[in-house]
Amino acid sequence: MNKNKITRRQAIKLVSTGLLLPVTSCHLMGGVLSKSTFSHGVASGDPDQSSVVIWTRVSHSEGPVNVDWSVATDPGFINVVQGGKFTTDSNRDHTVKVLVSSLEAGQEYFYQFKTKGALSPLGRTKTLPLGHLEQLVLAVVTCSNYAFGYFNVYDVIAKDPTVDMVVHLGDYIYEHGQDAYAGKTGKRIGRNHQPAHEIVSLDDYRKRHAQYKTDEGSLAMHARHPLIVIWDDHETANNPWMGGAGNHQSDEGNWLVRRTASLRAYYEWLPIRDPKNVIDQVNYWRHYKFGDLVSLITLESRHTGRSQQISYNKYLPLLNTKQQAQNFLHSVVGDPKRTMLSKPMEKFLSSELEESIAASRRWRIIGNQSVMAKSIDPKLDDDFFKLLKTQLTGKALEILEEHIHLGKLNLPADLDAWDGYPAARESFYQLAKDKGAKDLLVITGDSHSYWVNELYDNDGQSMGVELGATGLTSPRSIMSLGIEAMKRYDELNAANNKEIVWSDGRHRGFIKLKINHKIAHVDFITVSTVESQDYKTKVIHSVDIINSQGTLKYQ
Ligand SMILES: [Fe+2]
Repeated sequence: MNKNKITRRQAIKLVSTGLLLPVTSCHLMGGVLSKSTFSHGVASGDPDQSSVVIWTRVSHSEGPVNVDWSVATDPGFINVVQGGKFTTDSNRDHTVKVLVSSLEAGQEYFYQFKTKGALSPLGRTKTLPLGHLEQLVLAVVTCSNYAFGYFNVYDVIAKDPTVDMVVHLGDYIYEHGQDAYAGKTGKRIGRNHQPAHEIVSLDDYRKRHAQYKTDEGSLAMHARHPLIVIWDDHETANNPWMGGAGNHQSDEGNWLVRRTASLRAYYEWLPIRDPKNVIDQVNYWRHYKFGDLVSLITLESRHTGRSQQISYNKYLPLLNTKQQAQNFLHSVVGDPKRTMLSKPMEKFLSSELEESIAASRRWRIIGNQSVMAKSIDPKLDDDFFKLLKTQLTGKALEILEEHIHLGKLNLPADLDAWDGYPAARESFYQLAKDKGAKDLLVITGDSHSYWVNELYDNDGQSMGVELGATGLTSPRSIMSLGIEAMKRYDELNAANNKEIVWSDGRHRGFIKLKINHKIAHVDFITVSTVESQDYKTKVIHSVDIINSQGTLKYQ
């Protein structure tokens, strides 16, 4: 590792362009900051108590490249604790990923890369704490679609020094081409997806990841905070299950070839640990232990254990009465053979919940892809919706008519959510109960709406609270009916469902979760727009959750 000094002026510029952190002395690796060499920035993530992954990519390179890396306890690199060399090449799309080990628990670190005299932006990261932890602050995000808008939410989080970690609950990228989902908005605001077509091959997925990592908010957030990330569906294709996906057609080749390509690009482009064997890439679940305060256990519910989604397109035309709908819910959707999680995933969840209870950690958070609470569509039969129906045409009318139909029949809105797998949901609850964990704080992505939900098993026993994060840029589909319709739908949905306390699909934003030993304070923070970088933030809702004798209650 080259530890040549650079000038103080160069270092101040470097730090101010990267992280706005003070610097008093400079012992950085010699070189000049080069945004063009490292145009996808730096990132870190998947931490434990003694190690963390640091990441970058060398842009515009053909052959193999040697990259120096350095980790210090201070932004001036006076106290360098680790360093080394990493050789990357086209076989891994010139990405660089280092698992830095032998670090101190609960410690802030700074890292940087260098190749051929070019320095990367400065990154800051953190390891997980051991022992007593007073407070943890998580920024929870999901559904970041480049074509729907600027990643202003990442920018907000990058500028918030109180955040310990960012948790991304999936839909980190979207697979669609420019003429599909988000395409119209992308054209209007000049954020067209690249490549222009739906991504299918390894090269396609790599290019899409590269595009997402050029957003300014994304660059700032990844440099500033460590990332904990799970995938949902769009990292591969909409609504996948073990043997295919809603958005995978036979003319797009073999599903498993596509899935493997998407996961390979994911592991190349995200700051996460690689499994020992490539075949285990799909088995992606973790338990992050934050001292004595929080267990965060993440799920894989897309590729390893999920049965095929039940399609309303196929069944809805056959359902005309509430009784027929109930029979359908019971015998088709409720088939006990329909699974969400794989056996190895369940085994991991079971042993880690047991460990968490045994360690007396105060909170058990589940990082989850799709909405878990029971949610039956409300009846949209008041004068407002009657009038609206006469005013809408095309896709918007189709969306409204489907919701009207579902509401009439008391059916769930989304069979891709846990509502489409009620037996699997009950098994999940049973597994938690068996380990004495009825205080689950489930954090959920995917739905493009905020949620505060109470969770109950089929016997009415409380299982915890679910917090849903809205889309970072992705809108809820009902928004196409207009903001007033969305507001009424949200209100009716909460009134119609025991488990839904509050929901809001009208805003784009994130959740800030501030947790101590007494309380989890939840702020739902929105951005005023994602269609320009000139935005304002607002806390539109807050709740406090208390953990009282193994039961969660919100206030
Ligand atoms: Fe999404």
